[in-house]
Amino acid sequence: MPLQTDGIVVKNERIKSLYFLLGIYCPSIANQIKPGQFIMLKTSDNHSPLLRRPFSIYKNFTNNHPDKRKRDCLFILYKKAGKGTQKMTTFKKEKRISLIGPLGNGFTLPHLPSSTPILLLGGGVGIVPLFPLVEVFKGRKLFVFIGGKTKEDILCVEDFKKYNANISIATEDGSLGFKGTVVDLFLSSKETFQNKEIPYIFSCGPVGMLKELATRLKSKNLNCQVSLEARMGCGFGACWGCVVKTNHPKTPYQRVCKEGPVFNLKDIVWK
Ligand SMILES: Cc1cc2nc3c(=O)[nH]c(=O)nc-3n(C[C@H](O)[C@H](O)[C@H](O)COP(=O)(O)OP(=O)(O)OC[C@H]3O[C@@H](n4cnc5c(N)ncnc54)[C@H](O)[C@@H]3O)c2cc1C
Ligand code: FES
Repeated sequence: MPLQTDGIVVKNERIKSLYFLLGIYCPSIANQIKPGQFIMLKTSDNHSPLLRRPFSIYKNFTNNHPDKRKRDCLFILYKKAGKGTQKMTTFKKEKRISLIGPLGNGFTLPHLPSSTPILLLGGGVGIVPLFPLVEVFKGRKLFVFIGGKTKEDILCVEDFKKYNANISIATEDGSLGFKGTVVDLFLSSKETFQNKEIPYIFSCGPVGMLKELATRLKSKNLNCQVSLEARMGCGFGACWGCVVKTNHPKTPYQRVCKEGPVFNLKDIVWK
C-alpha cells in the first residue's frame, strides 16, 4: 500500500561524474518495497519544481539487517539531469524529505528451473532497478550486461561482482568494454545464446534501447520483463500522464506508474 511519508537523509554522495547515491532512513518504505518498484520524491522545499520525481530503489535494508546503520534505510542512485535532480545534489545529512511509495507493480518473480540463466540488461541508470534482483537470484547463473554512452555512465559493476555475476560492459564510444550498444553486445554474446538453456531476461533503460531490444528479439522466443521510464505527473495512477500503448485487448493504454513500470516486452506497442 503506497503512502506519503517523510524520510531522513543519511547519505548523499557523488559516486562518479553526474551520478549520486542518496541514502534515506524511511522504515515504512524500506521494509515493504519490492524489486522494480519506485518512489516519488519531493526534490524541493518550495514549488520549483512542483512535481515529485520518480526513482527506482537501488538497495533497501529491512529492520532486521545485521548492519544497524543500514536498518530501515533505502538507497537510490540518481543522475543529475535537470532542475529536480540538481536540487537533490544539495540535500544534506539529517534533512527531512517527503516520499511516496512503494509505487508500481515491480518485477514478477517467476519460478524457473535452477539451470535457467538469468540475464540482466541495463542501459545507463536503467541498471539501478535491476540490482535488487541479484539477491532474489543469488547463486544462479547470472549474466549482467551494463551499457552507457561512455565509461562515465557504467554503474554498479563492483556491486554485481560481489554476487559472482558474469559481467559484460558496452559503451557507445568504446571508452570501456565492447564498442556499441548494450543490445548489440548482448545479442552477439555467444555465452548467452549458445547455451542449451533458454535465458530469462530483465531489462531497463532508455526507450530507444528497449525498442531496439524488442525489434531484435522479435524472432526469438524469449521471456523478457522490462521496466519503462516515463515522464510522470503523480506517480500513483491519477493523472494518466504516463500512458504507454500495449497489446492488451480491452485496455490498450496502460499507466507506467500503476500497471507498470514493469511490462512484458512483447506487450508494448512501440511507436
Ligand atoms: C519508474 C522510474 C524510475 C526511475 N528511476 C531512476 C533512477 O533510479 N535513477 C535516475 O537517475 N533516474 C531515474 N528515473 C528518471 C528520473 O525520474 C528523471 O531523471 C528525473 O525525473 C529528472 O528530473 P529533473 O527535474 O532533474 O529533470 P527535468 O528537468 O525534469 O528533465 C531533465 C532531462 O531529463 C529527462 N527526463 C526527465 N524525466 C524523465 C523520465 N522520467 N525518464 C526519462 N527521462 C526523463 C528530460 O527529458 C530532460 O531531458 C526514473 C524514472 C522512472 C519513470
Ligand atoms: S504519472 Fe499520473 S497516472 Fe502515471
